[in-house]
Amino acid sequence: MKEANETQLSKEIIKMINDSPEKRITFYDFMKMALYAPELGYYTKDRKKIGKSADFYTSSSVGPIFGQTIANSFVELLQYASEKETFFILEMGGGDGRFARDVLNAMFEKYPKIYQSLTYFMLEASPYHQDLQREHLERHLNHVKWIDQLQDLPQPFIGIIFSNELVDSFPVHKVKKVNGKFKEIFVTWNEERESYEEITAELSHPSLEDYFIQQKVTLKEGQVAEINLDAIDWMKHVAQRLTRGYVITIDYGYPADELYASHRHEGTLMCYYQHTANDNPYQLIGEQDITTHVNFTALMEEGKRWGLEPVWFSTQSHFLMNSGILEMLQEIGLDQMKNKDLFQDEAIKMNRAIRQLIMPGEMGETFKVLVQQKNMGSYQYRFMTSALKQYGL
Ligand SMILES: C[S@@+](CC[C@H](N)C(=O)[O-])C[C@H]1O[C@@H](n2cnc3c(N)ncnc32)[C@H](O)[C@@H]1O
Repeated sequence: MKEANETQLSKEIIKMINDSPEKRITFYDFMKMALYAPELGYYTKDRKKIGKSADFYTSSSVGPIFGQTIANSFVELLQYASEKETFFILEMGGGDGRFARDVLNAMFEKYPKIYQSLTYFMLEASPYHQDLQREHLERHLNHVKWIDQLQDLPQPFIGIIFSNELVDSFPVHKVKKVNGKFKEIFVTWNEERESYEEITAELSHPSLEDYFIQQKVTLKEGQVAEINLDAIDWMKHVAQRLTRGYVITIDYGYPADELYASHRHEGTLMCYYQHTANDNPYQLIGEQDITTHVNFTALMEEGKRWGLEPVWFSTQSHFLMNSGILEMLQEIGLDQMKNKDLFQDEAIKMNRAIRQLIMPGEMGETFKVLVQQKNMGSYQYRFMTSALKQYGL
């Protein structure tokens, strides 16, 4: 394997550092290059990222049951939001397209009327993933449209804007509390040691200072934290493009007070390479994923500014159970009884997938689901309980 500084991407990052007036770049610029530099970044290059023979699993790669279950809730919400028989879903950062495929397969089979009037928009930053999406969605091409930016959505846009593990992949700024003040972490290149180094200096952007005041949290002396300004910007643009309907965001993360609690002294940044986690973003640059936990309070607060009301926030386990995941297991069980050999393998796989998706030690509790609505009345959704109250919101 090549050393970090030998790869083309690393050379470009070092050049960026050397060309800058103070010979340093923000961690945000470093992470943006590592993940999204054209053709060389982790997400932009032609290399498998999701699944067994790659770097990490996502809920959609665990099995079709994830998309099939969420299709039930999509149908409920679409029917409630849409006045005419036109149904729109936008998925952002759909990865290899498995989730969209599983949702569309389920709709085709269980809800053919909705399927007929549905347009499923995909907005995906990675050209590599766009190609995979086209492959996985071959059967549904008449119902899928790829767009390059949110402005390309039809107006009015009435429906659902969905993402799974999108926000955790946005580049972030890193800050540290030093002598009672917030400093920013910058990345430099040490020519002698041939290594990247972090230094702290004055904040590069005034919004970083305001961020913790708005979030009503403070850091302990020496504590490091990530600030995802792109997430706030994303929320604003999403809210502006949605005329009426819902934004459903699934990701790992917490409300602000939990995310920035003092026991998370070094922040939440993690890197993934071949199913192994590490906390060093300066190795395997462009070869490993870099992620941070999502601040759901920031999404809720920004959403409110643009007319998005948070109506549901809880664990993935809670959301999937309320969306009928266990009933789906029962359905398969019944089919299995009718035709033992054909369905046994499928039922075992499905059982395993469900456990992985809902069990606390697996994806069930780490992942949270936020549902926000715009221009909708009060309605008791099938999947809705007092989940917001549970988090004191
Ligand atoms: C961790 S993957 C999740 C993939 C998929 N949702 C899943 O659950 O398997 C994040 C995806 O978001 C895409 N992405 C990141 N930033 C984006 C943006 N601003 N707009 C659209 N897609 C983006 C990445 O290219 C990648 O495909």
